[in-house]
Amino acid sequence: MNPLCFSWVFILLLLPTTFHGVHGAADPNLISNVCKKSVADHHGQLKYDFCISSLKADPKSNTYDIFDLGYLSLNNTLKKGISIKSYIQHLLKDGKQSPDVMVRLKECAGRDYWHVDITMEGGIEAFLSADYPTAGIYVDVVSSYKKTCQSRFDGGIISPLTKIENEFGQLISIAFTLTDMNTPIDD
Ligand SMILES: *[C@@H]1O[C@H](CO)[C@@H](O)[C@H](O)[C@H]1NC(C)=O
Repeated sequence: MNPLCFSWVFILLLLPTTFHGVHGAADPNLISNVCKKSVADHHGQLKYDFCISSLKADPKSNTYDIFDLGYLSLNNTLKKGISIKSYIQHLLKDGKQSPDVMVRLKECAGRDYWHVDITMEGGIEAFLSADYPTAGIYVDVVSSYKKTCQSRFDGGIISPLTKIENEFGQLISIAFTLTDMNTPIDD
């Protein structure tokens, strides 16, 4: 092999790795693998199709690695938390709920979901500084807000939040899985 030819071979061998380094490797199965794992982690609570559509709703997500997907899932959880808060405000204003429901919604808004945005933002901040265990703790706190609000409706009072809280719970499950998948394994 003459030297010129040799250097071309060398460059061709090098190219894919350089490309990989600059653009990241988009694994076409990453989203489905994440969703399969998350469904398995949260038996019965998370629907596979919901998981897929929540992550694919971002048109760039097929280029995302596990970190970007984690960030996206935390963003999705924050957005849903904010929309629950404003939905409760809307229900309190339009006054169409029974007094039994109204009193519970007031507690959900004023106690349980009050800090949902600030807490999720804290989780995102921790995630972005690669403190994944702390990010997971914040997500856990947000999950407890949801559980406390839901428990106010125990005993047969129908919550108007059932559907939106179900979606919130699923987004929380995905965020848990992705926070976990970003956590390096200690040996
Ligand atoms: C998350 O949300 C922030 C703030 O809106 C945005 O700048 C960022 O690009 C989002 N990240 C992902 C991965 O969606």
